[in-house]
Amino acid sequence: MEKVSRRDFIKTGAIASVGLTLLTDSISASGSEDKPVKVAVIGTGNRGTSHVGTLLTIKGVEITALCDLVESKAVNAANLCEKAGRKRPAIYVKDKNTYKELLDREQLDAVIIATYWDCHTAIALHAMNNNIYPGIEVPAALTVDDTWNLVETSEKTGIPCMMLENWSFRQDNLALLNMKRLGMFGEIVHCHCAHSHDCIDHWFFDNTTGDQKWPAEYLIKYNRDQYPTHSVGPVISWMDINRGDIFTEIFSTSSASKGINAYFIRKFGENHPNAKLKYRQGDIVTSLLKTKMGKTLVINYDMQLPRPYSNRWMLQGTKGVYYEEKSSIYLVDNSPEYHQWEPWKPYEEKFNHKWWQADLSSQSHGGTDYIMLNRFVEAVRVKGPTPIDVYDSAVMTAIVELSGISIEKNAPVAFPDFTKGKWETSKPYFAMDKFI
Ligand SMILES: NC(=O)c1ccc[n+]([C@@H]2O[C@H](COP(=O)([O-])OP(=O)(O)OC[C@H]3O[C@@H](n4cnc5c(N)ncnc54)[C@H](O)[C@@H]3O)[C@@H](O)[C@H]2O)c1
Repeated sequence: MEKVSRRDFIKTGAIASVGLTLLTDSISASGSEDKPVKVAVIGTGNRGTSHVGTLLTIKGVEITALCDLVESKAVNAANLCEKAGRKRPAIYVKDKNTYKELLDREQLDAVIIATYWDCHTAIALHAMNNNIYPGIEVPAALTVDDTWNLVETSEKTGIPCMMLENWSFRQDNLALLNMKRLGMFGEIVHCHCAHSHDCIDHWFFDNTTGDQKWPAEYLIKYNRDQYPTHSVGPVISWMDINRGDIFTEIFSTSSASKGINAYFIRKFGENHPNAKLKYRQGDIVTSLLKTKMGKTLVINYDMQLPRPYSNRWMLQGTKGVYYEEKSSIYLVDNSPEYHQWEPWKPYEEKFNHKWWQADLSSQSHGGTDYIMLNRFVEAVRVKGPTPIDVYDSAVMTAIVELSGISIEKNAPVAFPDFTKGKWETSKPYFAMDKFI
């Protein structure tokens, strides 16, 4: 099995004494409701602008600064703030390092990072070193080393670091988490998840010209699970990862790459330059992860073949099974008919999580982004732990590089223990404060 090395000073145990606890205690109230939470948004493209819109709906948030490489994008986001009756945020636009000026100069409580992937980690590290909470878009890092950097810097500075994995906050996924915590599935044995989302014609490439957008570079250079966090986010809580269990290894394999070329030939003809390009990225990446306690998880990357959206979540335990794609469930102690599926929706309503009381359907991603950012801001306001901590952020993120290494070696790769052993005694934490 291929071993991924850990950073040297971790081996010396130099920071062991200042390690963050994996939180089981509730947020300590040291903040004030009246004091605005000062937030900057770095990267005001599609996702960053959407976050600006959501932040404007959260009470007590002041967006004080915005930063982008493109002036019109930052100006557009600043206009949104003004239109909402807020003070116009300061705008920082010069080059890819201008975020440093912003983070050094502004008196901030938190920063939302929604830039290209290559600078997520550097911005988050700079934020933590300035005592600013980073909320990092997915994935938080592109390498295992950078993932360790996030963990170590959060531990050293004491500043919580959260990856903004919104699907962990979905209403269905939180209801399922409630049921799992009530023991309704018995012991969890196996899960499956996928990011089945055809993004070729809008996110990776321009759909009118076929020109490459920035994420397309990754399809040319790498073959790995480029985007594991939406699928695996909710699953790590269902499987108690970092809270009594831990991933020990990952084995990834990839299909051939056919979908992107087929798309270009179908849509633009075989003479389009991108129809002839060689893409390293296979169409379907399948990763098998094992845990210390004997659970297994299968994750599929599936973003370049034509298909409807799905996350294909499945959770299986000693007392039953949940199957998201069928919107069905079977529980041996509850289901009326032996070995027959029953509809999921009544369970989702009955075991609704307390975070999901209001109708948020008009908000971005059906309210999921509001709940996530609201919980993040609340944590910042009281200077407490973020709802997703740095260790869970690290586990989701590390799959990017580890899956690529495993495909390259055609062998399983050891999964790092970002908690350095604390997983053995840590109690479940995510979404516990408002449990049912
Ligand atoms: N959670 C979700 O549902 C979701 C959905 C879409 C995208 N995302 C994530 O959001 C992030 C942004 O994606 P997007 O689709 O908005 O891309 P985008 O291209 O629309 O926006 C990215 C913006 O970041 C700016 N930028 C890049 N580097 C910068 C730097 N060093 N300093 C300042 N600005 C910089 C760019 O100019 C651009 O405007 C990615 O990490 C992506 O994975 C998440």
